[in-house]
Formats: sequence, C-alpha cells, structure tokens
Amino acid sequence: MSDKGFILWFTGLSGSGKSTLATYLIPILKEAGKKVELLDGDEVRENLSKGLGFSKEDRDTNIGRIGYVANLLARNGVVSITAAISPYRDVRDGVRAKAQVPFVEVYTESPLSVVEERDTKGLYKKARAGIIKQFTGISDPYEEPLKAEVVVHTGSESIEESAKKILAYLKSKGLV
Ligand code: ADX
Repeated sequence: MSDKGFILWFTGLSGSGKSTLATYLIPILKEAGKKVELLDGDEVRENLSKGLGFSKEDRDTNIGRIGYVANLLARNGVVSITAAISPYRDVRDGVRAKAQVPFVEVYTESPLSVVEERDTKGLYKKARAGIIKQFTGISDPYEEPLKAEVVVHTGSESIEESAKKILAYLKSKGLV
C-alpha cells in the first residue's frame, strides 16, 4: 500500500456524477488504508468560497482555492478528491502545474441531453428559463479536458463501472 497523497480532480457538467463518484470512492480508498478528504463544489461554496458567484473571475478564484487546499492536504499524504465543475481548461491546467503531488484528472463525460433530462437539482430547467444566468453548458462554457488521465462516461456507465476504471488507473500508477 502506498502512503503517497495525490489529487483526484473530477471535472464535468453539473449533475454528471462528480460528487456521486467521489462519495462512492471514499470508503474504498479508506479501506485500502488511505486518508481521504473531499472538497465538494457545493460544500466549498458554502464555506471556503462563500460569497463567490459564477462569473469567470469568481469560478477561477474558487478553483484556485480548491487547488491550493487540495495540494496542501495531498503533500501530507492525504488523497484530496475535488468535485467542482471546474469548467475552464487553463485554470485546471494551472492547478495541475502547481501541484507538488500526482494530479489525476477524471472527466465525468455525459451528454448535456442526459444531465438536463435527469436535472437532479432542477437547475437546468431554471437555466433554460433564464432564471439562472451563466449556467454551465446552457449559457456558460464548459471546456472538455484534452488529456484527462481517466474519462468516464456517466451517461451510459454504472457508478460501479466508472469507479472501477478510476481505481484501475490509480492501481496502475501505484497510487493505491
Ligand atoms: S465551478 O464552476 O466554480 O467549478 P462549482 O462546482 O463550484 O462550479 O459549483 C457548481 C454548482 O453550483 C452546480 O452543481 C450547481 O448546483 C450550482 N450552480 C448555481 N448556479 C450555477 C451556474 N450558473 N453554473 C453552474 N452551476 C451553478
């Protein structure tokens, strides 16, 4: 068992399964002897990033903070899992460049039509109606990763299948 920390960085549309997969993986990683912390988008925005909105500037600030804390934890042996949309490629790559630990980007790929149909939080409907402005995928950009370490297709795979892929990658790199 490796006692090395690393950053497991989820990125993808709202409702694409970032938090679900992160939450699913936590007990498995703990069972494997890892210390784990989750920096979840919604929770970070209630605490560390309280008051920030969804302009590019605010999103970039949010992601910068998450990256900073994730790195602090991971360099002390913790598996830092992050689950924020993190829509901008340059900002994700900036966090990656600053990381002092392995950075594993996981793209929860799902067609917009699928997440919009599921609409777990009812936000896509509000975004289409113009009640929520600058909504990622509807009225604000999402830039797909070009070189994510793992891509999971959450529109068509089960949680178990996607989790298996992520764990296989981590094992192949000796991180778990
Ligand atoms: S990020 O762009 O800065 O990475 P983050 O993951 O923290 O976003 O927050 C996204 C969550 O905030 C969504 O899952 C959704 O619940 C909520 N939200 C509210 N307004 C927006 C918006 N305009 N765009 C995207 N998500 C929004």
